[in-house]
Amino acid sequence: MHVPLLDLKAQYVGIRDEVLAQINEVLDSQQCIGGPKVEALEKAVAAASDCKYAVGVASGTDAILNTLMSLEIGPGDEVITTPFTFFATAGCIARVGAKPVFVDIDPKTFNLNPTGIEAAITDKTRAIMPVHLFGQMADMDSIMAVAGQASLAVIEDAAQSITSTYKGRKAGSIGTAGCFSFFPSKNLGGIGDGGMIVTNDKKLYKRLMIMRNHGMEPKYYHKEIGGNFRLDPIQAAALLVKLPYLDKWSAKRRKNAKYYSKRFKGTVVRTPQISKDCESIYNQYVIRVPRRDELVEYLRKKDIGCEVYYPVPLHLQECFAFLGYKQGAFPKAETASQEVLALPIYPELTDDMKDYVIETVLSFYE
Ligand SMILES: Cc1ncc(COP(=O)(O)O)c(C=O)c1O
Repeated sequence: MHVPLLDLKAQYVGIRDEVLAQINEVLDSQQCIGGPKVEALEKAVAAASDCKYAVGVASGTDAILNTLMSLEIGPGDEVITTPFTFFATAGCIARVGAKPVFVDIDPKTFNLNPTGIEAAITDKTRAIMPVHLFGQMADMDSIMAVAGQASLAVIEDAAQSITSTYKGRKAGSIGTAGCFSFFPSKNLGGIGDGGMIVTNDKKLYKRLMIMRNHGMEPKYYHKEIGGNFRLDPIQAAALLVKLPYLDKWSAKRRKNAKYYSKRFKGTVVRTPQISKDCESIYNQYVIRVPRRDELVEYLRKKDIGCEVYYPVPLHLQECFAFLGYKQGAFPKAETASQEVLALPIYPELTDDMKDYVIETVLSFYE
């Protein structure tokens, strides 16, 4: 049996006519930049995230970049984040000229461990950037408490966690701003790249809007240097169709996760641990296993898609060698990178497919 890690065609068949109709509206209007689709999506995502404002951008990466630029974080500044995340988190910090300062993860949730943050704060620290990894939010109460004491901004990298909750509060609504990605593999994925920033801070919102468009205000007058971070209206059109399905799709992912976790109980497979404060949207279902790389080979031979997120923690990436971190600096993140494996979790998985994944994983250890 073939079980891919993700099957976007299985999702598309159910919404094809709606998506094509929405895209046709954009084409017929020839409103090719910005316009009503982008504005409608901003309103809808702000509402879905319990935030006042949203700014559509071209990717999750641009969401983070624009937020850092709009908060005037740059050379000489430090931003505290996790080494166990997708590259863009720390890549954007470095791109604005600031220094990423890493703090190890909580091995249970894979998220930034708040107990390490205080010791990492210096007089150069400007912000903390927790990442809500794999669909589960970080320990926001503790993070907001340290940030508050030191007057730091909190930028939630919620690229993998749109509409996920912590104590009933939505991802992106707790910190200074939240950054979403609409990369096609996300729970709310576009038909190409896209992203959004949400915030409750009106002043920041206005800056984000100006910086998204080359720092231009009014037209052809530039007090500062922004970028072209605009969201494509065709992406907005497709996302407007998908957003009403998001809760249902995330619920199906949770159901799939429950199914897997029940069957893996009492085996060598360590299943995801979700904090009692959180409801995960399971953008990924990530297990920890012994002999991980051998299992990957085995699953691929059995036609099962799987992926290692992430094989190299960011402090050990070649491009960040200048930061001076050595192997052993963040043992929890380093161990995670050797043990983690994401299994197929997308909403359209059938019970037969899940059974095949479970039985194949367990047969490897027999
Ligand atoms: C944690 C995290 N941050 C940032 C990004 C960047 O988003 P994008 O790929 O839309 O630029 C991603 C997406 O892959 C991500 O997973």
